[in-house]
Amino acid sequence: MKIFRTAEELNNVLQDHRSNGDRIGFVPTMGALHSGHASLIEEAKSKCDRVVCSIFVNPTQFNDPGDLEKYPRRPEQDISVLEAHECDFLFYPSVEDVYPEGMDYRLDFELGYLDETMEGKFRPGHFQGVAQVVYQLLSIVEPTHLFMGMKDFQQLAVVDKMIRDMELPVKLIPCDTVREPDGLAMSSRNLRLSREMRASASVLYETLQMVKIWVLKFNPEQVTQMAIEKIRQKGLKPEYFELVDPQTLLPIHKVHPPMVVVACVAAYADEVRLIDNMVIKA
Ligand code: PAF
Repeated sequence: MKIFRTAEELNNVLQDHRSNGDRIGFVPTMGALHSGHASLIEEAKSKCDRVVCSIFVNPTQFNDPGDLEKYPRRPEQDISVLEAHECDFLFYPSVEDVYPEGMDYRLDFELGYLDETMEGKFRPGHFQGVAQVVYQLLSIVEPTHLFMGMKDFQQLAVVDKMIRDMELPVKLIPCDTVREPDGLAMSSRNLRLSREMRASASVLYETLQMVKIWVLKFNPEQVTQMAIEKIRQKGLKPEYFELVDPQTLLPIHKVHPPMVVVACVAAYADEVRLIDNMVIKA
């Protein structure tokens, strides 16, 4: 795997692949790579001729400076993961390379309701930061395909809108959430869970599984109450639980087959904030 620290170096190599008409798959990450990221690399390899992964802990998407500081950084381990999965290129830029001084990268994306609900409500500015960095990275890498995980369902909706609004020539490929054997969605944040909280955290998945059954018997308000109660009983502190439309993310007030709804949840396990979701075909 070739590692590039600057956009210029990366572009010198990618230029040849672009002129050959190669399909270039891109997997943007913030490092602390786990099996979820590895599955994105594998998915990209199966659909593209060359795969670029980026590792960049983007400061503009952290609304809590403490969270940015505590974000796990372990480059050597990450490089080993990427090499084991035969990723072709790693782009590992500095902040200055992604946001060059003097350049007007501070675009205000029209995110509308996608930025006002759920994560947007509790993490003001987060999705502007995500849209901004993904836009910057796509401008540098110019991939044909972009691979992102469904675990961050709202992030996918935001990136999808940004790509359509900016008319970027890239195909967004949503990839399934990879889970631990007990159902906990893989996340870099799981590394920060205490042993006790790690054991309790699977309640998020267990709850989402129950929700699949509950939506057929109870109304969304009742389902929300039951889900929140179940999560609390395991010692986690739910921040929100919502049943939403997969496209608009607007709340669903009545579920009737053959509707598709997404159950989204965020909860604190001590100080670690976890999110998860499940697409439910009623
Ligand atoms: O999901 C992530 O890891 C980040 O939000 C992303 C998409 C790499 C942007 O920094």
